[in-house]
Amino acid sequence: MSRILKKSIYVVAGARPNFMKIAPLIKEFQKEKINFKLIHTGQHYDYNMSKLIFDNLGIPEPDFHLNIGSASHAVQTAKIMLEFEKILVKEEPSLVVVVGDVNSTLACALVAKKKHIEVAHIEAGLRSFNMEMPEEINRVLTDQISDILFTTEKSAMINLKREGISSDKIFFVGNIMIDSLIMNLEKAKELNSLEKYELKKNNYALITLHRPSNVDKKEDLKKLLNIIKFLQEKIKIFFPIHPRTKKNLELFDLEKDIENMNLYITKPIGYLEFLNLMMNSKLVLTDSGGIQEEASFLKIPVLTARNETERPITIDEGTNTIIGNDIFKAKRYIKEIFSSNYKKGKDIEKWDGQTAIRIVQVIKRKFNI
Ligand code: UD1
Repeated sequence: MSRILKKSIYVVAGARPNFMKIAPLIKEFQKEKINFKLIHTGQHYDYNMSKLIFDNLGIPEPDFHLNIGSASHAVQTAKIMLEFEKILVKEEPSLVVVVGDVNSTLACALVAKKKHIEVAHIEAGLRSFNMEMPEEINRVLTDQISDILFTTEKSAMINLKREGISSDKIFFVGNIMIDSLIMNLEKAKELNSLEKYELKKNNYALITLHRPSNVDKKEDLKKLLNIIKFLQEKIKIFFPIHPRTKKNLELFDLEKDIENMNLYITKPIGYLEFLNLMMNSKLVLTDSGGIQEEASFLKIPVLTARNETERPITIDEGTNTIIGNDIFKAKRYIKEIFSSNYKKGKDIEKWDGQTAIRIVQVIKRKFNI
């Protein structure tokens, strides 16, 4: 039970990248004996996308599971709103904490705010300035209605102020996903994933691709397959494939294009295994947001198959380079990596494993806990 707060704090998570962000917060709430409830919207529902990651991170069973599943953006967002409102009506929490930029983030923030419940957004202020990304829409709108905005890097504060958000709501606390990484590094190191997947340290590339802008159209997906084709001539590739990408490879009849490549394809893997395979890889090719940050922290070269990033610090201080789907850029940077001329990356401010502590301090101050 909480010491002062009679009502609980609701923590919302829905999709795989959210889970790494709530795990350290929950641990800190438990340590500080702060009363909270966990809500899983069920946006991601496959065992490997959800339960396996929960187990890896030691996240407790959710108090509420909304079982939403996949649907169009409108339907998914609307269903989450309907179901989340039902549980807010039962017992109004003091605060709703949302993380990241997925549909669950915006849907729950909106419902809470309209019920005059305070909203805290972890990972606020990141901007790709590309409103065609569903995540960018989710980020901009969530930030506009949040009462407490926790940021991971300095660019976020500048973006939020430009959008008229008052600086007394903004707290530069660092990167909570890096808390998860640091907490789990030793456990991840102990796994023998290299043996399991027949890989050699520093002698394979790790790939993840799932963005609609990369995988929903055949011609875009083919451009990425060209990059993969070039890369696999140089090094073995390990590719845990996202359900969206798998479906589209089948739909566009592109499976045959990768059949004979130097490629190990598998379904999505657990968090600890993924960490192990990231830290032992030669390079990472991805279109994920979080992996740009994790690879930068681990100082593993990361090539991002997007035209921009909402996480510019990973380029300026980390190991990230934006290559889009441009084969020429890909070749240039892959060659740099192989000749050891690629940038090495630096330590990034407040990516130090203490972010959840800083967040909970702010919440305690604000709510007199
Ligand atoms: C979502 C997030 C994205 C995040 C990504 C990480 C939004 C708008 N997008 O995108 O920001 O980077 O998660 O994975 O919230 N599917 C399954 N099993 C699952 C989950 C999804 O098979 O457990 C399938 C769905 O049927 C759907 C596709 O994967 O066809 C896409 O799922 P969806 O949740 O719509 O978006 P993601 O692409 O995963």
